[in-house]
Amino acid sequence: MSKTTSLHAALDFSLDALFEWVRQTRQVDLCSYDSDFALRQICQRLEELSLGALSDYLSFLKNDPNEVERLITRMGVGYTRFFRNALVFETLRCRILPSLLQERPLLKRDGLRLWSAGCATGEEPYSLAILILELMRCDPSLSPARIFATDIDETMLEHARRGVYSPSRLASTHLAWVERYFLAEEREFRVREEVKSLVDFSSEDLARKSTLAPAASIFGEFELILCRNILIYLKPAQQTKIIQKLSRALAPGGYLVLGRTEEIPEPVLPLLHVISPDLRIYRRT
Ligand SMILES: C[S@@+](CC[C@H](N)C(=O)[O-])C[C@H]1O[C@@H](n2cnc3c(N)ncnc32)[C@H](O)[C@@H]1O
Repeated sequence: MSKTTSLHAALDFSLDALFEWVRQTRQVDLCSYDSDFALRQICQRLEELSLGALSDYLSFLKNDPNEVERLITRMGVGYTRFFRNALVFETLRCRILPSLLQERPLLKRDGLRLWSAGCATGEEPYSLAILILELMRCDPSLSPARIFATDIDETMLEHARRGVYSPSRLASTHLAWVERYFLAEEREFRVREEVKSLVDFSSEDLARKSTLAPAASIFGEFELILCRNILIYLKPAQQTKIIQKLSRALAPGGYLVLGRTEEIPEPVLPLLHVISPDLRIYRRT
């Protein structure tokens, strides 16, 4: 039995109590995370706080409201960067977005609707916004798009709304785009208002059953949804529920993009056809 597994078996009850506390205080259900992964994150937190047992951590959590937020951040593993997986963004820029921008708004009055689900600190939706602005520079007649960007973690969303990043987050961004779409500050880069104005950030737990799409988007019907590098941390049953929900939120013919190592769960396969197996790009049937 591995160290984590034996620990897990011994501490299962406390984990439940801990998850219940988080659910009651923040309406976030950590039960959907893969349990070994969840336990590893919590044990690291115990070490950092020099606490010996999960019950001590539960007391700590109850006495310090900020710790719930810290735990959610830890479980979310919020690493991201601009244009993460460059080939996916090149495919969006050269193939998918141009045809969506030209064709889709003809069918609808309110322009293209995109969703970055699990956007962390905002680099993914801002990357999409930059691609759209670049395409509109080449063809000003294109209709604008609205990008809905959601995450479970309020702290990350605050960072996203501020839109200020260290240079390392921009390492995969073309220099011309850095110059065009960011303001260089002392040691950081601030996203320009033109980019920010296309993105609407809000809090959303993808695992919550009662919602289909971000409230601000009203009814969903997205032409493109990015949900990358989130499913890998979740239990298979939860992955299936989330992909089912996202597939229902897509407009007919809309695209879904997953992270590099993520898969469409078997029960959802009939709803989507594969556009690129390597880049994890799918299209609603
Ligand atoms: C690794 S980041 C991915 C960021 C971006 N999509 C990317 O690929 O670069 C994972 C994000 O998913 C968010 N997340 C995890 N579980 C979530 C849930 N149930 N609902 C919404 N967001 C969630 C985390 O807070 C975190 O910001």
